[in-house]
Amino acid sequence: MPGQKTSMGKVDITRADIVLKTSPCHRIPRRWFALLFGLFHLYVFLLLLLYLFPYSSTPLRHTIAKNYFEFQVRGGSSKMLWRTPKPRKCLHPILNPYDPEMMEYQVKVGPIKCPSDREDWVYVTNGSIHISLRAQKRHGKISCTYKPIVRDGDFAVRRDPVPGVMQDGQPLQADFFSISCKTESGKNYENVHSAVARYKAVQERLDKHAADRKKTSSQGLGLSVFMYGFDSMSRMAWLRNLPQTRDYLVHTLGGVELEGYNIVGDGTPAALLPILTGKMEEELPEARRGFPGVTTVDGHPWVWKDFSRHGYVTAWAEDMSKEGTFHYRMLGFKEPPTDHYMRPFYLAAEKEYSKNEKLCLGSTPRHVNFMRWFRNLFDTYRNYPKFFFGFHTELSHDGNNEMQAQDEDVKSFLEGLEESGHLNSTLLILMSDHGARFGHIRATAQGKLEERMPYFSFRFPPWFRRQHPDIMRSLETNVHRLTTPFDVHETFLEVLNYTGSGQADIRHRGVSIFKEISKDRTCVDAEVTPHWCACLDWENVSQSDRLVVEAARAALATINELTQKQRGKCVELTVLNITRGSRYVCTEEDSRAQDKILKYWNQYNKNDFGRFDGMSCRKGISYFQVSFITQPGGGHFEAICYHDVTSGTLRINSKELSRINKYGSQPACIQDLLPHLRPFCYCKEQI
Ligand SMILES: *[C@@H]1O[C@H](CO)[C@@H](O)[C@H](O)[C@H]1NC(C)=O
Ligand SMILES: *[C@@H]1O[C@H](CO)[C@@H](O)[C@H](O)[C@H]1NC(C)=O
Ligand SMILES: *[C@@H]1O[C@H](CO)[C@@H](O)[C@H](O)[C@H]1NC(C)=O
Ligand SMILES: *[C@@H]1O[C@H](CO)[C@@H](O)[C@H](O)[C@H]1NC(C)=O
Ligand SMILES: *[C@@H]1O[C@H](CO)[C@@H](O)[C@H](O)[C@H]1NC(C)=O
Repeated sequence: MPGQKTSMGKVDITRADIVLKTSPCHRIPRRWFALLFGLFHLYVFLLLLLYLFPYSSTPLRHTIAKNYFEFQVRGGSSKMLWRTPKPRKCLHPILNPYDPEMMEYQVKVGPIKCPSDREDWVYVTNGSIHISLRAQKRHGKISCTYKPIVRDGDFAVRRDPVPGVMQDGQPLQADFFSISCKTESGKNYENVHSAVARYKAVQERLDKHAADRKKTSSQGLGLSVFMYGFDSMSRMAWLRNLPQTRDYLVHTLGGVELEGYNIVGDGTPAALLPILTGKMEEELPEARRGFPGVTTVDGHPWVWKDFSRHGYVTAWAEDMSKEGTFHYRMLGFKEPPTDHYMRPFYLAAEKEYSKNEKLCLGSTPRHVNFMRWFRNLFDTYRNYPKFFFGFHTELSHDGNNEMQAQDEDVKSFLEGLEESGHLNSTLLILMSDHGARFGHIRATAQGKLEERMPYFSFRFPPWFRRQHPDIMRSLETNVHRLTTPFDVHETFLEVLNYTGSGQADIRHRGVSIFKEISKDRTCVDAEVTPHWCACLDWENVSQSDRLVVEAARAALATINELTQKQRGKCVELTVLNITRGSRYVCTEEDSRAQDKILKYWNQYNKNDFGRFDGMSCRKGISYFQVSFITQPGGGHFEAICYHDVTSGTLRINSKELSRINKYGSQPACIQDLLPHLRPFCYCKEQI
C-alpha cells in the first residue's frame, strides 16, 4: 500500500505530542533522561557496528545428523525477519490448467496403432487357454506349446516347460505364459500373454472368509477398492491430457476430485508408501540397496495384508520393471505381495519388446493389455471383495503428452467396468503419485506447484451415495481441504472397519476422508514439510539477496558433501546460476503445531534418517527455497534451507534437495552401487 508509511508517521508524531504533554515522565529527574538518551545512542551505534562488521565471515560446515547439514551464514543474522503471526490455513493456489506457459509444452498426441495382422492366436477365459477360432479359420490347424512364466524372486523369471502339445481348454498354471504356435503351412505365432489363472489356495481362502462372514457381523462398508493410477500426473496435467476420462468420471459416474491433495515427499515411493503402509520410508525397515542391514520390503505393514485378512482378493501391478517403485532403489519383495502380481509378466515381456512395434505387444497397445488384466481380475472374482491397485508408468513418466494416446482407452475401460456392474460394488480411485518432476514444465513456478499436487479422485456407487449422505457431504467438503497420501491409508482402513463420519481429528497426521477435515488444517498438522507444502505463503526474494545466495551455497556444499566419499568418481560441483529464491517466515502458530508433531515423530526417531528438529517451523526460523544450476553437467536443483535468525545458521536436509532436471547417464559410474547418489553425481569420465 503506498501512502501507508506517511500516515503511520503522522500517527506517531501525534502520539509523541500527547506523551510529552500528559505522561508522568516530567516527574523523572533530568539526569535519568540524559542517561537513557545516551544508552539509546550506544544501542544504535552497536547495531550499526554489527551490521557493518558481521560477527562471522567464514562459513562453518558440519553434518549434524545423517541427513542434516549446518552452515554459518556469513553476515550473521538478518535485518528483516519478523512477521506478526496471523491466523493462517492452507489455501492452495488456484492454477490454470491451460496456463500459456504450460501450453507451450503441450503437444497433441494421437492413439497408438498396433499392427492388426498380428492378432492373438490364443486367448484365456476362466483360467483356461483356448486357440482362437478366427485364427484357425484364417490359418488352418494350429498347434501350440505353452510355457508358464514362473516368478523367481522379484528380479528373475523361469519358463517351466510343459511337456507335449497344448490342449485347447488347458487350465493355466500361472497368470503369465509364453506361447509358441505353428500352422501346418509353417506359419508361426510367438508371444507372451498376461491373464488370470485360477489359484486353488486363493479360492479356498476367499470361500472360507465368505462362509465366516455370514456368521459374524462385519464393520466394513461392503466395498471393493480399485485404485488405478498413472505416474507423474499432476491434477493440471490430467485435465490437459485425459479430458475424456475425466469428463466420464466426473459427469457420468459422479466422481469427486480432491483439489487440495498434497504430496509428502519426493518421488513415487514417498507417494505410495504412505498410501499403502501409512508410514514414510524413514519409519519402515531399511530396504535401500547398498545400506547396512537392508532387507526386502515384505515386512512392511502393507494395506493389502489388511484387505487380505478381511477376505479380499488382492492384486498389484506396475509396468516398467526396471523402474519398479520398490525395486529401483529398494530390494523389492521376496514373496509375491498380493494374490495376483504382474511383475513377472513385465520381466518376461520387456525382453520381447524389441520384436514388437513401439508401445505394442502383438496387435495390442501395451497400456490396453495392462487394463485388460484388471478387467480379467474383475471378471474372475465377480462375487468376491477385491483390493486391486494398478499403476501405469510407460506413457507418462517421460512427459505427460503421451497420456492423450490412452485417454479414450481409459474411458472405455471404465465404461466396461461400469456396464458389467463391477463398479456397482467398488470404490474407484483414479490417481497419480506426484506431478512431473523433471523437464521444462517442472522448472516453471506453476510446474513446481503442479509437482506437489497430483491428481486424486474418488467415485462411489450410487446406492452407496444414497445410503451414506454424511460420507458424501464430508467428501464434498474435503475437496477444498488439505489432504495427503496418509489420509488415503486411513480411508482404506475405514473401508474395512467404519467408525463413522463427523469431524476428523486433525491432531493425527492421517485422517479418513469420510470425516470432515477442518479448514484450519495446515501442512504442519498433516506432516507435510515446507519444501512439499503447496499452500504456504511464500514471498519471492531476489536471486541476488544475500541469504538466497548463502542458501544456494549451503545447498551446493551439501551436494558436494554427499558425494565427498566418491570424489574419485564424482566431480565437485559449482553453482552456475541461481534461478529462483523465495522465503517463508515461521509464525508463533507454526511453533505450536510443530511441537505437537515433534512428540509424535520422536517415537520413530531412527539415527539413520536424522532428526526431525532440523525442519522445525518456529518463531525465529525462516525457510529459503532456492533453485540453482550447477556445473559441470547443468544439474538443476531445488533446495530448502532453514535459517535460524538468532544463531545465523542455515540447515539443509538432504532429503529436501530435489534434482529437477534429468540426470540421464551423468551418474553412470555409481548408479548401480549407490543409487541414492544418482541425482548428485557427475562422473569424471564424461569430462
Ligand atoms: C470357471 O472355472 C472354475 C474352476 O476351474 C469352475 O468351478 C467354474 O465353474 C468355471 N466357471 C465357468 C463360468 O465356466
Ligand atoms: C447395485 O448394487 C445395489 C446394492 O447391492 C443393488 O441394490 C442394485 O440393484 C445394483 N445396481 C445395479 C445396476 O446392478
Ligand atoms: C474397528 O475399529 C474399532 C475402533 O477403532 C476397534 O475397536 C475394533 O477392534 C476394530 N475392529 C476390527 C475388526 O478391526
Ligand atoms: C513469484 O515469482 C513467480 C515466478 O517469477 C511468479 O510466477 C509469481 O507470481 C511470483 N509470486 C509473487 C507472490 O509475486
Ligand atoms: C541465469 O538465470 C537468469 C534468470 O533465470 C537468466 O536470465 C540468465 O540468463 C541465466 N544465466 C546463465 C549464465 O545461465
